[in-house]
Amino acid sequence: MVRTQDELKRMAAHRAVEEVQSGMVLGLGTGSTATYAIQRIGELWRRGSLVDLVCVPTSRQTAALAGGLGLPLGSIESHPRLDLAIDGADEVDPELDLIKGLGGALLWEKRVESAADRLIIIVDEGKLVERLGQKSPLPVEVTVAAWKTLLPWLEGLGCEPQLRGGAEAPYITDNGNAIVDCRFADGISDANSVAVELDGHPDVTAHGLFLGMASSVVVARGLGVRVLERKS
Ligand code: A5P
Repeated sequence: MVRTQDELKRMAAHRAVEEVQSGMVLGLGTGSTATYAIQRIGELWRRGSLVDLVCVPTSRQTAALAGGLGLPLGSIESHPRLDLAIDGADEVDPELDLIKGLGGALLWEKRVESAADRLIIIVDEGKLVERLGQKSPLPVEVTVAAWKTLLPWLEGLGCEPQLRGGAEAPYITDNGNAIVDCRFADGISDANSVAVELDGHPDVTAHGLFLGMASSVVVARGLGVRVLERKS
């Protein structure tokens, strides 16, 4: 059966929302796939099938969406531990490591999702890759003042970096930072060491490598949905 990408995103999102229970503190992701999950949670909330939730958004966009659906909002400061977070991703490798951030919300996503007992990622099968960076650039959030001087340093990691939006009109995140998209010609050969390098640079405020974070990945494809669980 041929399904559109939007149908696949909705299928994955609805499957993940089956894991949401009343009383949970819930992390809400950002992007087109996460939007289907948030709309579904909103629908169940309105019907009274889910009660007593606190929803921690990962972007202003998600806060506006969830708030508009009447979902009770909280923050990571008021709720430092979450039961579950649900979000999309740009790439998923066989270890369930991820690239995220093409939608520009990576810093809040990482803060909220690191604090969740479980992170469920929802994707269509086009997001599965053998090696991270094969299809998607790696988004790196950096301080605006430093983006230019960071480019040669980022190149040293083996990529071609490009300021999102360009120098005339750089894309600015919810946190007032810029994003440099880093394209690796054959994918990222050692994602762990790239993550360590990025984590250690003072002008890098976040990056899109979400390693060891996903508990499970719901993959929607033409034949239906399958759930990949983290080994270990
Ligand atoms: C937001 O910045 C991202 O991390 C998204 O979660 C990711 O880009 C997936 O977005 P889509 O579901 O729109 O593809």
